[in-house]
Amino acid sequence: MYSMWIGLEYTTILLVLILSSVAGNRAINLVYSDSIQGMLRKSRKLLNWSFYLTILIVLMAILIFILFLNYDPLIWQDKLFIHLPLMTGSLLFTWLSSVPRIRKLRSELARLADSSNSDDVLNTQKSASLPQLVVPFHSLTWTAFTVLYFVMLPPVPLIWLELIIPILVLFVVIIGLWVMYDRRFHLMKHREVIRRPSLIWRILGRLAAPLTVIVIASFLITLGMNNSRLPESMSMMAGSNDYGGGAVSIMEHSHNQTGHTMDTSPSKGMISVTELTGPQIGEPDQKITLIAEKKTIKLSSGKTVEAWTYNGQAPGPELRFVEGELIEVTLINKNIDEGITVHWHGLDVPNAEDGVAGATQNAVLPGQQYVYRFVAEQVGTFWYHSHQDSKEAVKKGLFGPLIVEAQEQAHTQDDSTIQDITIITHDWDDVGFAIGSNDTIDRRSVAAGTPVRLRLINIDDWVLQRYELIGSPFKVTAIDGVDLNEPSELTNTWLDLTTGGRYDITFTMPDHLVFLRVGNHKEIGLFLSPDGTGSIPKRTATTGFEPQHYGSATTTPFGLDSQFDREFMMVLDNKLAFYNGGFSFYDTINGQVFPNTPIFIVHEGDLVKTTFVNRGSVEHPMHLHGHHILVVTRNGEPVTGSPWWSDTLHIAPGETYEVAFVADNPGIWMDHCHNLQHAAAGMTMHLMYDNVTTPYSLGGETNNHPE
Ligand code: C2O
Ligand code: CU
Repeated sequence: MYSMWIGLEYTTILLVLILSSVAGNRAINLVYSDSIQGMLRKSRKLLNWSFYLTILIVLMAILIFILFLNYDPLIWQDKLFIHLPLMTGSLLFTWLSSVPRIRKLRSELARLADSSNSDDVLNTQKSASLPQLVVPFHSLTWTAFTVLYFVMLPPVPLIWLELIIPILVLFVVIIGLWVMYDRRFHLMKHREVIRRPSLIWRILGRLAAPLTVIVIASFLITLGMNNSRLPESMSMMAGSNDYGGGAVSIMEHSHNQTGHTMDTSPSKGMISVTELTGPQIGEPDQKITLIAEKKTIKLSSGKTVEAWTYNGQAPGPELRFVEGELIEVTLINKNIDEGITVHWHGLDVPNAEDGVAGATQNAVLPGQQYVYRFVAEQVGTFWYHSHQDSKEAVKKGLFGPLIVEAQEQAHTQDDSTIQDITIITHDWDDVGFAIGSNDTIDRRSVAAGTPVRLRLINIDDWVLQRYELIGSPFKVTAIDGVDLNEPSELTNTWLDLTTGGRYDITFTMPDHLVFLRVGNHKEIGLFLSPDGTGSIPKRTATTGFEPQHYGSATTTPFGLDSQFDREFMMVLDNKLAFYNGGFSFYDTINGQVFPNTPIFIVHEGDLVKTTFVNRGSVEHPMHLHGHHILVVTRNGEPVTGSPWWSDTLHIAPGETYEVAFVADNPGIWMDHCHNLQHAAAGMTMHLMYDNVTTPYSLGGETNNHPE
C-alpha cells in the first residue's frame, strides 16, 4: 500500500509538471490568435487547463492526507510541509491572477465580437500577453520541478540549507519570468500587428530553460562525483558522530570529539580493538581450520560453479559448536587474491574476533592466515561469511552454516531419533537456485514420530525468501538464533525470511509425506516421507507468519518503558546522491551514504533505543554486529507475543520499528543493510564505543574493503 500511495503522489507531481507546461505554452500563444473567435476558443481551453491542474493538486493533497493518517511523521512531513504548500501556493497564484484576467479578456472579446474597430480588438488581444495572465502557469511548472527535486533529494532529516536554497532559487526564477514577460507585454503594446515569432525562435525560446538547467546540473554533478571519491585510506573512526539524544548529552562526551573526527591517537582510557579478543590462553575444545580457495564445485544436478570455497566446499562446512566451548578457527587463504575474513553472523563474539576487514582486522591475503578464538555463548542457528568484499564473497560461496547446540541437547541427543536439518539457500551465478549445493529434490526417509528441526538460513540479496512446509503443522521455535517463548502450532502458514535472518522450525514427523518448498521452486526442496517416496504436494498456505504477536509474552531485561541512555534514529530512504565517484539513486541512512553516514557513539553499559523508519521504496534487512536487539514496537504497535530478539531486522517500505539493546560488547561494530548490494553502495555505518580505537583502515591504498 505504502509504495502505491507514494508512487501516486509522485505521479501527480509529474503530471502537474507536464500539464502546467502545456498550459504555459498555450498562455504564451494566446496573444497570437488570429481572430476573436479563435482567442475565445483558446482562452476557454486555458480555463479548462486550470481545472485539470486543480484536480491533480487536490488528488495530491488527498494522497498526502492518507499518508498523514497511516504513517510515521518522518514519512509525510516533507510532503505535508513542503510539497503541499508549494503546489497549492502556486495553484492559488493561477486562480487569483491568471483566471480573473482570462475571464476579463473573454468578456471584452465577447463584447467586441462584432465590433468593426480593429484598434479595440488589437488592444484587447494585447492584454492576453499580460504577465499576470501568463506567468502563473509557468511558475506552476517550476514549482512542480522544485517539488520533484525535493522528491529526489528529500530534506529529511531536516537540514535547513537543503530546504531553503531550492525554494530561493524557485523565487528568483519566478521573478525572472515576471521581468521577462513584462518586457514582452510592453513590446507588444507598441506593435501595430501581432505576429508569431518564427518556428526557430519559438523552439529556442522553449529550450532555453531546460538547457540552462542541464548545464548547471551537469556542472554540479561532475563536481559532486569528483568530491565523493572515497579516500585511498581512511579510518572507520572518521565520520560524523551521533551521540544519540536520551539522558547523555553531547557536552558530557565532547572530550572525545576533535572537530568532527575522533582523536585516533592512543590516549588514556582508550582501548584498541586488537585488545578486545576472546580468551588467548587455554586449550580449545574445538580446533578448526578453514582454508579458502577458488574451486569448481558440483551441484547435485551435476551443474558446476566456479566458486570461492571454505575447505573446498560451497557452502562451507557446517560448523557445530556446543554452548560454552572454546573455539579456535584458523583461517588460511590459499588463492583468493581479493582477500578474505570470517564473520560469525549473529554470534556476538568479542570485537577482535568479528572478522570485519578494515575495522577489526586486515583482510587475509593469499598465503596469510588469521586465528579467531572465542567462546560459543549463544545457542542457536547462525552463519558465517567473509566480510572482505562481502558482496562478491558471499555471492561466490564464502559462507556456511554455524550451529551452537545447548549442552543438554548435545549430551542427550540421540542422533538416530532427531532429524536436525539445515536449509541454507543460494542463487548460484549463471547456474541458479539451490539448497546449499543441492539443486534437486532432497528425498529422505524419516520414520513417523521422529522430531524434526529445520534451520532456515537466508543469505541471498533481494531479500525475502519464502518457505512453506506442506504436510504438517509446525512451530517457529527460534528467530535469529534466539528461542521464542511458548510458540504455538502453525498450519497453512508460510514464512518470509529476510536476508541474513534465520528461523528454526520444529515438528513431529507424521505418517505421511512432508515437503519444504522454498520460493517458487518445484524441482528443488526437502522431501521427507516414511519411505522416501511420494509425489510433491500442492501448496496449502494461506497466511504469512507474523513474529510480532506469536508465542507468549514474558519478562525482558528492558522494554518500552525503560529509561534509555541513548536514542538513535535510522531513517532509511532512496535519494539521488554521490558515492565513490558515482551519481545515482542510492539507499541512504539518515540521508547519507558511507562515509557520510553517522557513527553512533555509545558508552559501555548504555541502554540504547533505535528507531527505524523506512521512507524509501525498497526493503532493507538491517544488521547490527555484536549485539542482539529486542524489537519493542512495529509500526507503533507493541510486540505482544514472545520477546522477539533479532540481529537482522527486515524493514519494509513505510515501516517503523523501535528496538532496544544494551551496549555490553565494546568495540567498533558494523551496522548495515544485509542486502549486500546496498551495503557495497554505501548503505553502511557503525556503532562505536566511546573508548575504543582501531589501528585498521580501509580504502584503495589498503587491502580492506569490508563490503
Ligand atoms: Cu552478515 Cu556485516 O554481516
Ligand atoms: Cu538495503
